[in-house]
Amino acid sequence: MFFRTSRPWQARESQVTPKGLFLNRRKIIASGGALALSGLAACEAETASQPSGGAASGSRPTSGALDYRGTAYDVADTQTPYPAVTGYNNFYEFGVGKDDPARYADAMTTDPWSIEVEGHAGRTGRFALEDVVDFSNLEERIYRLRCVEAWSMVIPWIGVPLAQVLAAFEPTSDARYVQFETKLDHDEMRGTRFRVLDWPYVEGLRMDEAMNELAFLAVGLYGEVLPNQNGAPVRLVVPWKYGYKSIKSIVKIRFVSEQPETSWNRSAPREYGFYSNVNPNRAHPRWSQASERVIGGNVFARRDTEMFNGYAEQVAHMYAGMDLIENH
Ligand code: MTE
Repeated sequence: MFFRTSRPWQARESQVTPKGLFLNRRKIIASGGALALSGLAACEAETASQPSGGAASGSRPTSGALDYRGTAYDVADTQTPYPAVTGYNNFYEFGVGKDDPARYADAMTTDPWSIEVEGHAGRTGRFALEDVVDFSNLEERIYRLRCVEAWSMVIPWIGVPLAQVLAAFEPTSDARYVQFETKLDHDEMRGTRFRVLDWPYVEGLRMDEAMNELAFLAVGLYGEVLPNQNGAPVRLVVPWKYGYKSIKSIVKIRFVSEQPETSWNRSAPREYGFYSNVNPNRAHPRWSQASERVIGGNVFARRDTEMFNGYAEQVAHMYAGMDLIENH
């Protein structure tokens, strides 16, 4: 990964306060309804001749505030100010600078948006995003995000559990892993004109990891629709793994039987493993992972890195008996 010393959010620290208003105007709705499975079926029926999705059962806000309910998932740490969350990003499709995504990601078209589902599942085909994610049943999850570059944030995401979405596609017993793929459009995504990575960006999880309660599909943050630089309109959030597993702007989901290729592992296997669980005891070949720089506050703020990014209670059981240094 690349490093830049510029810290664009610092110039915009004055914008921090207004975003606090979110807490006042967010509408916490009561938990309602089950997954829009019927919507999924409806769309599927039309997909053969209508690849960008058929009659969506729900509607999808493409900007502004989202309706969502409050969270049982919170952390003790202070939330990272909005300007840092949306101004200091990794989204190499728009450039390798931390401020490139905020500058250039607006060029990406996010409406309409469909997701192609392939592989070992009962329901495959192309589905409109609003049939995959039930926008009337969103929840907030405040998670810690730990980048492999040894910095961290705390982000209030809005979205749905990944397990709920994947189950609706009825994966078969052959689906041992799931792979995700990011949109690729050389015109809209200027960074993809350079072979920094082997595009499109791909990521993957073991099926039990994907079905873990913490794995989350985000469509918003700080109460509003996800900004493009954060992976609009839908991105993965896997809080116990290094940030690069949280793939942005997903257009494909593949249920596969073998461990799938992942972008950073393909690019530098010694540095970036398939599992990529946050682990303070395994140094990156070029730097320590024992502590992390806390983004958004005091420039010198640091904290110790925790095993599984502090989520051991929810996830450690999945790796019982595994050598997590070897299987990094
Ligand atoms: N997804 C895609 N498609 N391309 C990327 O470059 N960067 C990853 C991850 N998802 C990346 C991506 C990395 S390294 C991190 S740390 C997080 O996105 C950053 O998410 P954020 O910018 O929303 O904080």
